[in-house]
Amino acid sequence: MLTVDQLQTIFCEKLDAYKFPQNPSALYQPVEYILSLGGKRIRPVLLMAAYNLYKEEVDYVFEAGMAIEVFHNFSLLHDDIMDQADIRRGQTTVHVKYDENTAILSGDVMLIYAYRFLEKYPEDLVELTRLFTNTSIEVCEGQRLDMDFETQEEVEIASYLKMIELKTSVAIAASLAMGGILAKASSEDQKHLYEFGRNLGIAFQIQDDLLDTFGTEALLGKKIGGDILQKKKTYLYLKSLELLNKEEAARLKAIFRMEKLGPDEVQEVKKLYKTAHVDVHAQELKLVYQQLATSHLAAVSVSTDKKQMLSDLSVKLLNRNI
Ligand code: IPE
Ligand code: IPE
Ligand code: MG
Ligand code: MG
Ligand code: MG
Repeated sequence: MLTVDQLQTIFCEKLDAYKFPQNPSALYQPVEYILSLGGKRIRPVLLMAAYNLYKEEVDYVFEAGMAIEVFHNFSLLHDDIMDQADIRRGQTTVHVKYDENTAILSGDVMLIYAYRFLEKYPEDLVELTRLFTNTSIEVCEGQRLDMDFETQEEVEIASYLKMIELKTSVAIAASLAMGGILAKASSEDQKHLYEFGRNLGIAFQIQDDLLDTFGTEALLGKKIGGDILQKKKTYLYLKSLELLNKEEAARLKAIFRMEKLGPDEVQEVKKLYKTAHVDVHAQELKLVYQQLATSHLAAVSVSTDKKQMLSDLSVKLLNRNI
């Protein structure tokens, strides 16, 4: 068994050594740029860790890890256009550094490359492709709902949870399941790995939403308050409406109805969130999903020893500030 740090090092070294074509440089340079900015690489690490529950030679799944990491980075290129985000991983986003058309097309080619990385596994190709395709479709559905909710006045908490499941958690779930498929784990284990990832991913996005409002830009590498500026209907917003008194809730709604929000509104919304103690509620909700994740990991039929690494990693991810 390898440690999380070892898995991350193995993946990052191989990723750094991987070369996309040189030409046309305006297509591939932004790809190299976004991939060179780092990131936590949690999806390939989870994939490798799932594989490592059953098999030793984790090098074998590098290309599968690339498929999911390149897919994830493609989704970030397009997400940053949609969210009008200027900073990612502490650096200028691709659509700002280059331009929007560049970010769209370099994103597109990354999505296609993601599929190409799967060609390494002819034996498992149908199964991997089916999972990957379903996941990609769901991510698009989630991203569309996320944008729809910006302008939709009434959003149920259940709809928010479905949206984050689609935009974020299914890709994390698929990473774990891909590790299971490649290791020829039983279909029962594959299901539990997927469900572990699905619940972990929901908790992960709740943490992402918390950090977007209450985190530190220097650590997170993203602009704090971006979700508020974009009028994102996060759990923080939706639950605050329930927790605040009538006047405060009306004020929060009024701010989110304004045409354009600025730093003053971000501060005011943050204050309302604090008044509601919604951060405490979000932490509790995160814990619910963390526990669901844990129960599925417990059901995976390998020794507790071997699963400790995934368990520790999930705790680390959900308490992160980066
Ligand atoms: C950011 O994902 C987008 C979400 C799904 C929340 P990560 O937090 O995994 O981003 P990087 O890859 O580490 O930068
Ligand atoms: C992004 O969610 C989900 C995908 C990229 C599919 P966010 O919009 O919350 O991610 P960040 O905060 O920009 O990283
Ligand atoms: Mg987004
Ligand atoms: Mg975003
Ligand atoms: Mg976010």
